[in-house]
Formats: sequence, structure tokens, C-alpha cells
Amino acid sequence: MINTDIQKTCTRYDLQTGNITGADVVHAKKHLGDIIGIFENKEAALNMKPDTVVYEVSSHCAVSEGTAGGLFFGTSCVHPGRVGNEYFMTKGHFHSKRECAEYYWGISGEGVLLLISENGESAAEKVEKGSIHYIGGYIAHRLVNTGNADLVVGACWPSDAGHDYGAIAETGFTFRVVEEFGKPMLKGNNAYEHNCY
Ligand code: F6R
Ligand code: ZN
Repeated sequence: MINTDIQKTCTRYDLQTGNITGADVVHAKKHLGDIIGIFENKEAALNMKPDTVVYEVSSHCAVSEGTAGGLFFGTSCVHPGRVGNEYFMTKGHFHSKRECAEYYWGISGEGVLLLISENGESAAEKVEKGSIHYIGGYIAHRLVNTGNADLVVGACWPSDAGHDYGAIAETGFTFRVVEEFGKPMLKGNNAYEHNCY
């Protein structure tokens, strides 16, 4: 028999806040103690509470990780804060399957999307409510919260993209985003220069 009911999905997306609820939603928190290595001023990081939540990610995963042809959909929330003068940020990654692209879009807050290709071409895009960011394949990406409120960003990426954190952990991005004279500035990253020249 044909089912003629119009079914209401139990998974919901709040367009104002980016909150995702319902089935197949996974929530993860990243604490400062887990990511001290990404910040330049390790001493300042060690003087902060290791259980400080730097960012949170909720993902709707309708298929299992690694499924070819599927998509994942998520919301990242980077909290406001700094380690020394460097703003809170995500670890950043290349996709393991390098050719996989991703969309990001700004939901609320203010920030910067740092991008770098495998041969070091880099860019920094301003993230704000309504901004859309197409992250092509072969490009590592990191979100930085430069504001005083949560930076909330939506994302959609292939379910077989995977995440490669190792390459970025070694060299980092070309730029660090720091507060100088009360506003966000891009600064050369010593660790990147040291590893690449
Ligand atoms: C997925 C994606 C985002 C990030 C999230 C946390 O491919 O780019 O969902 O995973 O913003 O950042 P990372 O993964 O760098 O800790
Ligand atoms: Zn990604």
C-alpha cells in the first residue's frame, strides 16, 4: 500500500541560532586543554583553565562517516576569548580526501575564516551573519572568533571527506589572528615560516 501521509521530519534546524536537534545529531566540545598546541603563547594557555570550552560543534550525520555520495550538515560555535592576544579558534584541518569541498555560512557573531592550500597560498575571509564561504578542495580551513559574542557558523561537507589535522598541526596557517589596539589584525605565523622556509 502506498503511504500518502506527508511526514514531518523530527530533525530541526533553527534558522536564527543554527541549533540542530533531533535524530542523528552528534554534539562535541573542544576544551582548551586539548588544543593548547594551536596557540602561539603556550605560557598564557597553561595559565588558563584547561576545561575552558573553546568551541562546540553539532553535526547532523544521516549516514555513517566515510559514506560516498552523502553529506553532513553542522553548526560550529566558537566562543569569544583569547589566549594572550590571539583569538579563540578551531584546530583547522584539510579534508583527508583532499578534493572534497565544503560550504560555510555565517549565522551570528564576527570572525575570520583562514584558508591555506597545500602549497601555501592563503586567504582570510570575514565571517558575519549571511556571509557564504565556498572552501574548495585541497584547502585547509580554520574559524577564528574576533568578536565579543559567540561566532556561529553553518557547514555542509561530504560524508567521506574525513579530517586530517596532522598537516596543520605541524605548520599551522600563514597567519595568526590577534587583537592589536583593540581590533583584529593578521600577523605572520612564526611556526609556519619556520617550517616552510
Ligand atoms: C567539517 C568542518 C567543520 C569543523 C568544525 C570544527 O569539515 O569543517 O564542521 O569540523 O568547525 O573545526 P575542526 O574540525 O578544525 O576542529
Ligand atoms: Zn572541513
